[in-house]
Amino acid sequence: MSAESIAWPRGEAAQRPVVDRLHEWVATVDHKRLGILYILYALLFLVIGGVEATIMRIQLIRPHNDFVSPEVFNRMFTMHGTTMIFFVVMPVMFGFANYLVPLMIGARDMAFPRLNAFSFWMTAFGGMLLYYSFVGGARRKRSARGSEVLSAPPRYASNSDASVPHSHKHHLDPGSGN
Ligand code: HEM
Repeated sequence: MSAESIAWPRGEAAQRPVVDRLHEWVATVDHKRLGILYILYALLFLVIGGVEATIMRIQLIRPHNDFVSPEVFNRMFTMHGTTMIFFVVMPVMFGFANYLVPLMIGARDMAFPRLNAFSFWMTAFGGMLLYYSFVGGARRKRSARGSEVLSAPPRYASNSDASVPHSHKHHLDPGSGN
């Protein structure tokens, strides 16, 4: 069988409406397409994790920096670590495994292709849920009595020099010669 008989006739794929082509990607159970989706998804989260790393880097660029509060720094730390491990490293591995392993062993697809697709969408919505709670989590909410309460944990002391006891300040100051 020649390759022409199984390939899309030239130009036909491009002629189909964008919505149809998008739908094919969303509803796909093909291991190659799911592999690509996993890798694209991981690259998106790599950028988000990179922004968080950059925020931490700027904060740590000099001592007693006030770029972000300790509370926000902790959030960046947690989200950067979680994002990089669970939403970058693992999806990249799943992506390459999905794409390559069936080809390497000569199988037509993964076993249980629909379950495979379901797994990808669980991962995708898992990441969205994590970031939804990150972005929406610190909002003020009203208690049953109508007074405002903070749903975020209590604030730490200010990161400014004023909060550092004089003896510590002297000790930590790199310019003091100690
Ligand atoms: C494969 C996974 C990871 C990648 C690719 C990654 C990548 C990076 C990059 C590129 C930076 C900036 C480095 C710099 O500013 O010099 C960074 C900073 C940082 N990462 Fe990660 N990271 C990963 C996992 C983690 C994990 C699991 C944690 C902790 C739970 C973590 C904590 C930090 C911290 C605290 C910084 C700021 C350090 C600094 O800038 O001095 N990272 N990460």
